[in-house]
Amino acid sequence: MHGQWSSRLAFILAVAGSAVGLGNIWKFPYVAGQNGGGAFVLVYLLCVFVVGLPIMMSEVLLGRRGRRNPMSTMRILGQEESGNRHWQLIGVGGLLASFLILSYYSVIGGWTLHYVVLAARDTFIDANAEILQSEFNGLVSSVGNLTFWHSVFMGLTAVVVARGVEQGLEAAVRFLVPALVAIMVGLLVYAITSGDFAAGLRFLFEPDFSKLTPTALLIAMGQAFFSLSVGMGAVMAYGAYLPQEESIINTSIAVVSADTAIALLAGLVIFPIVFANGLDPAEGPGLVFQTLPLALGQMPGGSLVGTLFFLLLAFAGLTSAISLLEPVVAWLVETRGMRRGSAGLLAAFGVWLLGFFTVVSFNVAADFKFLRGTFFDNIDFLTSNILLPMGGFFVTVFAGWVMCPNSSADELDPTAGTIYKIWRVLARFVVPVAVALVFLNAIGVFS
Ligand code: TRP
Repeated sequence: MHGQWSSRLAFILAVAGSAVGLGNIWKFPYVAGQNGGGAFVLVYLLCVFVVGLPIMMSEVLLGRRGRRNPMSTMRILGQEESGNRHWQLIGVGGLLASFLILSYYSVIGGWTLHYVVLAARDTFIDANAEILQSEFNGLVSSVGNLTFWHSVFMGLTAVVVARGVEQGLEAAVRFLVPALVAIMVGLLVYAITSGDFAAGLRFLFEPDFSKLTPTALLIAMGQAFFSLSVGMGAVMAYGAYLPQEESIINTSIAVVSADTAIALLAGLVIFPIVFANGLDPAEGPGLVFQTLPLALGQMPGGSLVGTLFFLLLAFAGLTSAISLLEPVVAWLVETRGMRRGSAGLLAAFGVWLLGFFTVVSFNVAADFKFLRGTFFDNIDFLTSNILLPMGGFFVTVFAGWVMCPNSSADELDPTAGTIYKIWRVLARFVVPVAVALVFLNAIGVFS
């Protein structure tokens, strides 16, 4: 049996720590940039609130009801509610997804660590776009450098998870998210005064629906899942610790809103810098690393601010990475009987090995393309755009269709008020239909 979080705030902090990470600041701007901005952002926002939020509520409610790791929770609830044990496959898919995501997440986390050092060494001072571009290319073309920082990031994650997470994490996130937001607001002031803010705003919020290809739609939905950490059981795992008297509805809304605000804030900082400097919004995974240093190099105290910023970003990535490694470790401990320390090391080692595929995707194997592109492109596409939506689909189908309404109302709102009714309609109809349509559309069924 599980312990419990000390309070609702502790739970919010843990889920926010998982949700807020590289997905908001590194990934959201670059995928929005690659997919044409405005229309993509609009679909992303729709997916966050209409699809992602009900899934998050479903995951928390299942987690709290099961009070175990996601796989055992789904097995037990499946048996209780329908006599069918196969629902635990959701947990299996989640373990696979978290393993794969972490393998590349850690490599990108390594980039942020490298940028801590660059900032501290005054590398950005008065650097222009070309210098920063070659700085970034220098990093990603070096197998040794990438491997080194990937190892450091994965090592840090493993140490935290192996020691057992809760206390340290709460304290860290409580400080981390506000500090990160504070620096971003500082950068926003720079973007407004020195960037092309109007162009940035237009790019982010003026929808041009001709840019919305079926694939872009799927990527927007996948990004919503990725950013909210839903679809693989991470939130379910944390829900297992939520005290019974706390409101799942309110806490989910708080986390989803904060996560989305931070992603938009990142976009509002980055795109004005992109347009003021004639950079390409569709630059790809290097976007943040080539734009923010421009701002940092021109503002007073930029080296200090930059060091802090990339450090905080690395920490935000770390709290997310922890939530990706934790399910694998919890599973090894609870069903394979391993000791926590050895389970942490074993899982981290596996993820670390797998990370090499991402490391070489940016250099020696950059031209080795299949299906969606490099290894990295494929792992990313498979996890964000296929495994997470599938996981979210089945979680809500279970919570909305299989679970009896008394059980779900019991967790969400025993008076079965309006918000509960809205959740139920979303979980039963809107989420499954939306996910299915976006999928079918992307594989060309409607064209
Ligand atoms: N949401 C995190 C981010 O935005 C990444 C992440 C952590 C995640 N845990 C997850 C994504 C679980 C999907 C599923 O950086």
